[in-house]
Amino acid sequence: MPEFDTSYRVLRRRGELDVRSLDAYRRAGGYAALETAIREQTPEQIIQQVIDAKLRGRGGAGRLTGEKWRIVRNMDDNQKYVICNAYDADPRAWAARSLLERNPHQVIEGIILAAYAVGASEVYLFTRNIYLEGVASVKRALNEALEANLVGRDILGTDFSCTVNVIGADIGFMGGEETVQIALIKGRRGMPEQRPPFPAQYGLWDKPTAVNCIETLANVPVIVRSGAAEFASVGTEMTGGTKVLTVYDYVPDSEPKVIEVPFGATLHEILRHAGYNRPGW
Ligand SMILES: Cc1cc2nc3c(=O)[nH]c(=O)nc-3n(C[C@H](O)[C@H](O)[C@H](O)COP(=O)(O)O)c2cc1C
Repeated sequence: MPEFDTSYRVLRRRGELDVRSLDAYRRAGGYAALETAIREQTPEQIIQQVIDAKLRGRGGAGRLTGEKWRIVRNMDDNQKYVICNAYDADPRAWAARSLLERNPHQVIEGIILAAYAVGASEVYLFTRNIYLEGVASVKRALNEALEANLVGRDILGTDFSCTVNVIGADIGFMGGEETVQIALIKGRRGMPEQRPPFPAQYGLWDKPTAVNCIETLANVPVIVRSGAAEFASVGTEMTGGTKVLTVYDYVPDSEPKVIEVPFGATLHEILRHAGYNRPGW
């Protein structure tokens, strides 16, 4: 098991280097992955890299992200979408809000890489309106990215363009489900729909749509920057990388600890990492 501290990839801990501004994120190596990918790599190369990294969806079902992207990529349609699921259906989970608040540019970089890989020119980031700080943080970052030509028209002087829309709703647990989000983006009542067909084939406005959890997308710049093998060196045989977890204390009204551990960590290791260090453990 590698040292937990070196496995932090998507989460920024409190007190750690603040990368919320574009300048700071760039100083920490941010957007280098996007620049390389968009200028030197084909979408198919990125998809293969994401498969080789064993990146699986962090939103629940755990499918290989690259395989889902390949379905969207290969659909014969000139309009495709990406939805970044930043909702946290479980009201006690803090993963999405922590990523929005503390590492918004890495989320945006992951979103644009996903859009480039699947061939989408429009993205919806779907979150909770109550995440006031998270929404403000990602909107601020989006404005900076727009000004720096990292989002929007002809990104970094290439012929790839992509718009990112932020949309919020607070409709309880079902708001985290993908077909509910698609209905809400279309202005309909938030009701789940039967699958198949899956959104990858018939999604938003019946167009091929890659719905990805925000945590999944935040991992993509790490893969493109350091390579699939390095990414998969943390985690298990089946799943590369880390998982963001929310750990609550039995203290009323206390803030939870949001931690990131390698896949395969035991409950004992998770609790120790969260700071529970009882004698005899
Ligand atoms: C009731 C319900 C709640 C869900 N809540 C979330 C959620 O909060 N965040 C999320 O990313 N996926 C959630 N999902 C899964 C999404 O429908 C979708 O599969 C996921 O966002 C795909 O992203 P991934 O492949 O990166 O995991 C939920 C699914 C169900 C059935």
